[in-house]
Amino acid sequence: CRTVILISGSGSNLQSFIDRLHPDQANIVAVISNRADAFGLQRAARADIATAILSHRDFPDRVSYDQALAELIDSYQPELVILAGFMRILTPGFVARYEGRLLNIHPSLLPKYTGLHTHQRALEAGDSEHGATVHFVTEELDGGPAIMQSHVPVLPDDSVEALAERVRQTEHSLYPLAASLYIKGRLRLIDGRACLDGAP
Ligand code: GRF
Repeated sequence: CRTVILISGSGSNLQSFIDRLHPDQANIVAVISNRADAFGLQRAARADIATAILSHRDFPDRVSYDQALAELIDSYQPELVILAGFMRILTPGFVARYEGRLLNIHPSLLPKYTGLHTHQRALEAGDSEHGATVHFVTEELDGGPAIMQSHVPVLPDDSVEALAERVRQTEHSLYPLAASLYIKGRLRLIDGRACLDGAP
């Protein structure tokens, strides 16, 4: 399955794809970053994966950036597009273009805590558990149909960093697993719902 992965930062989730999915399954044809200093670009290069940088600073607005981004993505002819810490809000036109083949991972138990600072918000709310969600991307920010979640406990005296790291560790098995179901054709977006083996 030709796969393009979009990143903005460390790329630890990208690394989990490289480490856990066989190239016959997820053939990562390119890693694209909006930031030249994203460490994930080095991870990709180390794995002999093509990289590209498309800086949002070079475009006047979201629509023109997303148009250029879509053209760049399409030049690799992917069947699956993975958002792995890509810190950009995407325009409706972009999302529509990749409908049903665009996945994201978000560090909370959605629908709780869309947006930023999820770990801090879970701590402040006194939640006893927290986690991550893989979902299909739709126009609504972090609001697309959920596919799978990982759960972790919130421990007494947890720091934001400790909790974030606990969640991050679970992401690295969750995201490749969800992607592998998609790649095997078992996971699809049907009538706006995430369906596994044809059932919602
Ligand atoms: C992860 O916490 C993910 O849930 C969120 O962005 C972070 C990416 O981390 N969407 P990394 O760049 O994969 O290490």
